[in-house]
Amino acid sequence: MKMISSLLGLCACTVALLTPPAARAQATPDEWWKHAVIYEIYPRSFQDTNHDGTGDLKGIEQRLDYLKELGIDAIWITPMYPSPQVDFGYDIKDYEAIDPQYGTMADFDNLMKAAKARNIRVIMDLVLNHTSDQHPWFLESRSSKTNPKRDWYIWRDGKNGGPPNNWQSWFGHSAWKLDPATGQYYYHYFYTEQPDLNWRNPEVRKAMYAALRFWLDKGVAGFRMDAVSRLFEDPDLHDDPYLPGYNAFGDRNIQHKYTDDLPEIHDVFKEVRALVDTYPGHPVLMSEADEPNIEALSKMYGAKGDETQLPMDFQIADANELSAGKFRKLFDEVETNPAGGWPEFFFSNHDQPRQWDRYGDGKHNDQIAKLMATLELTARGTPQMYYGEELGMRTTEPTRKEDVRDPEGITGWPKEKGRDGERTPMQWTPEPNSGFTGAEVKPWLPVPPSAKTVNVKSELADPGSILSFYKALLKLRHTEPALLEGNYKSVDKENAEVFSYLRCPKVGNCLLVALNMSSKTQAVHYDLKTEGIATTSGEIALANYRAEKVDLKQVEIPAFGAAVIRVR
Ligand code: NOJ
Ligand code: CA
Repeated sequence: MKMISSLLGLCACTVALLTPPAARAQATPDEWWKHAVIYEIYPRSFQDTNHDGTGDLKGIEQRLDYLKELGIDAIWITPMYPSPQVDFGYDIKDYEAIDPQYGTMADFDNLMKAAKARNIRVIMDLVLNHTSDQHPWFLESRSSKTNPKRDWYIWRDGKNGGPPNNWQSWFGHSAWKLDPATGQYYYHYFYTEQPDLNWRNPEVRKAMYAALRFWLDKGVAGFRMDAVSRLFEDPDLHDDPYLPGYNAFGDRNIQHKYTDDLPEIHDVFKEVRALVDTYPGHPVLMSEADEPNIEALSKMYGAKGDETQLPMDFQIADANELSAGKFRKLFDEVETNPAGGWPEFFFSNHDQPRQWDRYGDGKHNDQIAKLMATLELTARGTPQMYYGEELGMRTTEPTRKEDVRDPEGITGWPKEKGRDGERTPMQWTPEPNSGFTGAEVKPWLPVPPSAKTVNVKSELADPGSILSFYKALLKLRHTEPALLEGNYKSVDKENAEVFSYLRCPKVGNCLLVALNMSSKTQAVHYDLKTEGIATTSGEIALANYRAEKVDLKQVEIPAFGAAVIRVR
């Protein structure tokens, strides 16, 4: 970051003084989520206040002012319910309580109040597909074949001395586990400690919907629905088809044909949507489903727009290559999705390597981080940020198997190192343990060495930092009618190096966004007459390089340059 600041002169970014006064356009109240920037918090790693090395709810409350100042409208907190923490919270043993290591219900209520006072909404994580194997429901279910809760989970007899069929767990090996107590196998799409619920059982639905009401009654603004494409499996247990090759766990590659995206999931989405719609404040549903293409993603909105409002776009999130052509195709596709649904996108989360490394070329990573931030925060749709991306936090994987905390990394070592790398503590200050916890405490995952320079305190003081750039972008996003209400249209479509698009509101300036995704300076000639734009000059609203006025006939964009250009 420092290197780029000095290369580019006084400031690595250009923020024009032309931004109109804060006139934040109002989304209709039922569509607040269209204007919201959502920030994902991994509670273990955000802020530890009681010095046990694990983040907590009081820590999130303490940092709300930072989030407000940054420009965040809603936080999605990954699970903080009581859990044995095998999958760090995604294995829940009580859906209506707070895990003591994160605090108390009073802490949660205080967090809600403090967030509301700052106009920040709180979105909860909703794990419908499975519970912990320590959940009382499962303990009962496994106790005997005749227990009333037996059918709450998926129990089957084995076949030919092995599991019932070839279904595989996402985390490696068979998705069936033999339970010696009754001699039957139970099904788990994820870890063995995460048995799948049987969503064909109406009592399961009733119990889970009661949990939803519990949090909605507390005023939460919606749910991020975990792994929702996996709610149903083929009742006839057909084997999944094999694909060529082997995965990092040494298993044959498989297509999850009979355990993913079964049509029944849409009945559940409709029920959940109908339920949340009865609450005030227009709660939102975000679906976590890594759909293989735009047609499949579109189905998540529901044929009548009656399912999830914000299906997360994994086509975009999984694009690992910095390619203008690829991103143009993906953003054009989601813009014209068959359901006419509102896009939701992200580049980093707690399951995949951080964007600073993923798109970085090893030399210009800070510049590229600003470029990706520009795409994330100026495209049409709801952006979802991940804590620390605004600093350029790096993925910091464990270097020894004995240090790995995520079981996936233990099973998959060394090919699959698990997800610890993207879950390291938030970097607040240059001090030891980065202000995440006390200097003398051992954090649950080590604070990366990069925290000495990549941290909130240092970056706030540096106008050329990634954090300063994010702040400027977020401000623009919240004040520019073009970014709030404008349509999206990609232009200069044949350009293989520069991804450009226009955002035009009904009234006011259009913004032209130009993203040079190559390592060479590119000269772009924009002819926007067909878009109804006669002018050939523009003014830089924000850029990750020094520039002010531009001649649209010849815009020179340096390597990995990103510019938001105001055109009239
Ligand atoms: C998706 C979550 O994001 C991931 O962290 C978790 O391991 C699985 N679902 C299982 O809940
Ligand atoms: Ca703590």
